[in-house]
Order: sequence, then C-alpha cells, then structure tokens
Amino acid sequence: MVVSEIRTIGVVGLGAMGAGIAQLTIEARYETIGREVTEELGHQARGRIAHFLQRKVDKERMSAADRDAALVHLSLTTELADLADCDLVIEAIVEDLDAKRALFAELEGIVRPNAILATNTSALSVTEIAAAVELSARVVGMHFFNPAPLMPLVEIVRAELSSDDAVETAYAVGERLGKRPIRCHDTPGFVVNRVLIPVLNDCLRVLDEARVSPEDLDTAMTAGAGWPMGPCTLVDLVGIDVHVHASEALYEKLREPRMAPPPRIVAMKNAGLLGRKSGRGFYVYE
Ligand code: 3HC
Repeated sequence: MVVSEIRTIGVVGLGAMGAGIAQLTIEARYETIGREVTEELGHQARGRIAHFLQRKVDKERMSAADRDAALVHLSLTTELADLADCDLVIEAIVEDLDAKRALFAELEGIVRPNAILATNTSALSVTEIAAAVELSARVVGMHFFNPAPLMPLVEIVRAELSSDDAVETAYAVGERLGKRPIRCHDTPGFVVNRVLIPVLNDCLRVLDEARVSPEDLDTAMTAGAGWPMGPCTLVDLVGIDVHVHASEALYEKLREPRMAPPPRIVAMKNAGLLGRKSGRGFYVYE
C-alpha cells in the first residue's frame, strides 16, 4: 500500500478523539466511514464535526462550500463489515487492551490484506495490539492529540513488526491531514505522554503540597511557564478517566513513582468527575 492508494479511511469509535480524527480526514477529502456502536452516537459525532466546521466558517477560516464538500465525505455505520473497502482504518475506541485486540482481530477478517490498521492508543503497547492479528506488519500507531483538529502533532508509532510501508504510508497520511508527524518506536507513552503524564502528575501533587487552588495552579503554569492552558484545564479537557488510565498504564510498564496517578485524581475518577465530558472535573462546565 502506498499513500496514493489511500482513498478510503475508516474511523472506529467517534468519541472526542475519533470525531476529531474523522473531521481531519474529511477536511483532507478522504472518503471516511465512521463507525459507532449505535446510530445515535454516530449522529452525535456528525453533529460535533458539523459544529466545529461551522465555527471555522463563522471565523472565515473555511468557506461554506468547503464545509459542505467535507461533510459529503463522511458516512456513518454501526457495522464493522462496512469498512471492507477501507485502505486505512484508524481505531479510537476505549483504552482497553482486550477490546482493541478483539477489534483488530475482527477487522483483519473484513479489510483487504494490504489495508493498514492504525491505533490511536495513548499509552497501550501497539505491539501487543498488533499481536492480535496475523499480518501484524500492517499495524502502526497514529497517536493524535486532544483536540485532534487543533493539535499539530501526530506520533507515527512503529511496533516491533510494523513494515516500512505501513509506517511511511501513515506518516504521509498524517502530512496530508495537515499535521506535523514524527516517527517513533513503540515504547511506553511514546514521546509526548512519556514526558507529559509524569509532569501533569507532578502538577496535580503540587495542588496538595503547595495548597494552591486549581485556578492558581493554572495561572502559575500559563503565566509563569508559558503553557497554552493550565494543567487542571488540560486534564479536564483530556478527561480525568483517560489521564488516570494512561498514568496507570505507564506506571505498570515503567514502575516509576511519578507515573502513578495521584490519589486525589483517582478519587475524582471514581466519583464520576471526569472533566469537560461529565460537566465537572477541576472546574464546572455548562
Ligand atoms: N474539535 C474541533 N475543533 C475544536 C475543538 C475540538 N475538540 N475544540 C475547540 N475547537 C475549535 C473551536 O471552534 C474553537 O473556537 P470557538 O470556541 O470560537 O468555537 C477553536 O477551536 C479554538 O481555536 P483557537 O485557534 O482559538 O484555539 P486556542 O488558541 O484557544 O488554542 C488549544 C486551543 C489549541 C487547545 C490550546 O489551548 C492548546 O494548545 N492547549 C493544549 C492542549 C494540549 O496540550 N493537548 C494535548 C493533550 S495530551 C493528549 O492529547 C495525549 C492523549 O494521549 C492523552
């Protein structure tokens, strides 16, 4: 498979990340098939994409004609079998190794032998996901950052058995999506999360150690360290459950204490305070 042959992209899982990725693929004019488990979730994702495209039109960063042309490229399904003609499938489902492995094994029986299978996992091993399929050379990581349409980076992750073709094709797709791709190997947290997760955990520990409020911690890191958003705002955006899961996954692999999620944020997760998506995390959202 070479990049010019990538015409149709499947996106499995249309939550915040999957919807953002599908927005990118339709803006780049790839035929895109988004798969969600229910029609309602699929329609919610389409509404979210249409909303953000409309905001671009409102701000004169996109024409209404381009918005309409992009949306025409998105079709929705609840059936994995509808991804049979995809040249590349990007998985963005729940961060659960067994669920991802089961999905990849099922996808392998559906797509063509030369189709590429990519995972957007943040902290799981791409190699362990790839081991669930027979042609594991076709599996790579394509790790986007939240919010996917806005963050320029995509990490193209080479698993132990990924082929050069799969890696380079995913890299070229990343470029066509308007991203700044980097290549890296499949190590825990890849590049950004290997650095960012322990730093965010340090920030959250400082909340209690320095007895600072979330607002003041955010001000400290935006006004004093030049971060675009403060750590509490960022963890609320990423999702407190997602952050706890990524921290636990990295701690399990690396056994470094700084990777472990601070008890305070685990308690928030257990209480259902998940950040923006649940309406309340460090902050309250309308
Ligand atoms: N999808 C699509 N569009 C979105 C969006 C989304 N999820 N969220 C916002 N937008 C659009 C909106 O239309 C919004 O405008 P509106 O409020 O007027 O409607 C517009 O983007 C905002 O765009 P701006 O250019 O004005 O953005 P800002 O200058 O405010 O920057 C930011 C926003 C890029 C998010 C910036 O604050 C930033 O860089 N924050 C840091 C984010 C970060 O670090 N992300 C990485 C998280 S770690 C991660 O993802 C790894 C994972 O594995 C856990």
